[in-house]
Amino acid sequence: MKRRDFLMSSGAAAVGLVAAQNGLMAAHPPAQDLVIQKAAYRFRDSVTQGLVSLSADAPPPVLRGRVGQPMRLAVTNQTPDYTAMHWHGLRIPNAMDGVPYLTQLPIAPDETFLYEFTPPDAGTYWYHPHCMTMAQMAHGLTGVMVIEERGDSGFDSEEVLNLRDFRLADDGGFLPYYTARGAARGGTHGNVLTANWQQEPVYDHVAGSLVRLRIANTDTTRIYRLHLEDAEARIIAWDGHPVRQALDLPSPKAPLFVGPGQRVDFAVRMPDGEGRDVPIIAELPGRETQIMARLRSVGASLKRHLNDLPPLPENPVTRPDLEKAEMHEFVFGWTPEGGAPDDGLCGSLGYSFWSINRTPWMGDAATGSGPLAVLERGKSYVLRLRNESPNLHPIHLHGLVFLPIRSNRRALPALLTDTALLLKGEVIDIALVADNPGDWAFHCHVIEHQKTGLAGYIRVT
Ligand code: C2O
Ligand code: CU
Ligand code: CU
Repeated sequence: MKRRDFLMSSGAAAVGLVAAQNGLMAAHPPAQDLVIQKAAYRFRDSVTQGLVSLSADAPPPVLRGRVGQPMRLAVTNQTPDYTAMHWHGLRIPNAMDGVPYLTQLPIAPDETFLYEFTPPDAGTYWYHPHCMTMAQMAHGLTGVMVIEERGDSGFDSEEVLNLRDFRLADDGGFLPYYTARGAARGGTHGNVLTANWQQEPVYDHVAGSLVRLRIANTDTTRIYRLHLEDAEARIIAWDGHPVRQALDLPSPKAPLFVGPGQRVDFAVRMPDGEGRDVPIIAELPGRETQIMARLRSVGASLKRHLNDLPPLPENPVTRPDLEKAEMHEFVFGWTPEGGAPDDGLCGSLGYSFWSINRTPWMGDAATGSGPLAVLERGKSYVLRLRNESPNLHPIHLHGLVFLPIRSNRRALPALLTDTALLLKGEVIDIALVADNPGDWAFHCHVIEHQKTGLAGYIRVT
């Protein structure tokens, strides 16, 4: 049986089953309608047309849920292309993961797909399409998803920064959003760097208050090298999950690398004194630094202290048993330039340049492409991620959370994550418990790499 035919029948049945289970578990919350549509927006002097968002004139909103509370998101496609929505970092049932042909069929124009799930983990996550991925993400369709903890986490306020580039001409129109040259190397970078689609926005918070600053890199390509200037701050979460160990604050010389798909949460204690600000700065290799946004103090000081904050509650992630873990190796590298991956209705960039274990992934829709590895449910594994190229790759695994345990290039803090940024020539071992059954996409989050061969999937039985 062809993979696509198989999914037509089994995928539909699985969706019904998950919906039924969710329905039994808790009262049905009303579905939130998310309508993917064309948008226009003024980034600089002129209006940019041809964006893709969830409203006609604004960035995709921050979606909010609470850990353990069911969410129902009805995604309607009002574009002329196919789509599918993925909830990056959420450990939810496979049928709700939004990967075309692997977990569902693409959503056709004028069709609606109801995503229903209960987030098991609190933290900063995000959402983006997984069909026409490059086209729709480059044109704006990337949003942040905040899953709140059960109780009060002690902050006075919160700021969410959705960092991403756009590639715009002077007249506001789009430049080509990918290039063969970029796809074969580090990716094509945008030229207008934004936070929440704005350049250097300023956000007011009460002086001396405690702000939870959630930063998500939703760009298709750029690795943001970040630091906060003159801030009294602490890193409290990484890729969604609480950080318990004390990490050095990033500095201009040692900025924090936040790759595409990655998130970092800071606790920031606002400066005392009206008008003082905390700039969030990106180092741009070979260029001047760029202020991404500022937090500005207003009013009389609340005189709070970072130590007032209780630690964030742990998420229920099972720790791998390294003694018993079986190892699988994955080699990420180039491939001789070949034909276009066949991505069914989900768009192709027209080339293959990249490979996993020397095979370029020929697209989600390709028949006969099996899983890269089959993991037995409940067992611990070590996955060795080997970068054979000089380019950086943020390697992302859906549906599971993992722990980096060693690198051949640096001391890596053991922080739970869903995306490991591989440096040039780096080999990172990650450990996980295969506790969520399904076919989980496994790919580079530089979308031009993902769409030209550096993608596959791992099966958990
Ligand atoms: Cu952000 Cu395949 O995911
Ligand atoms: Cu994902
Ligand atoms: Cu890559």
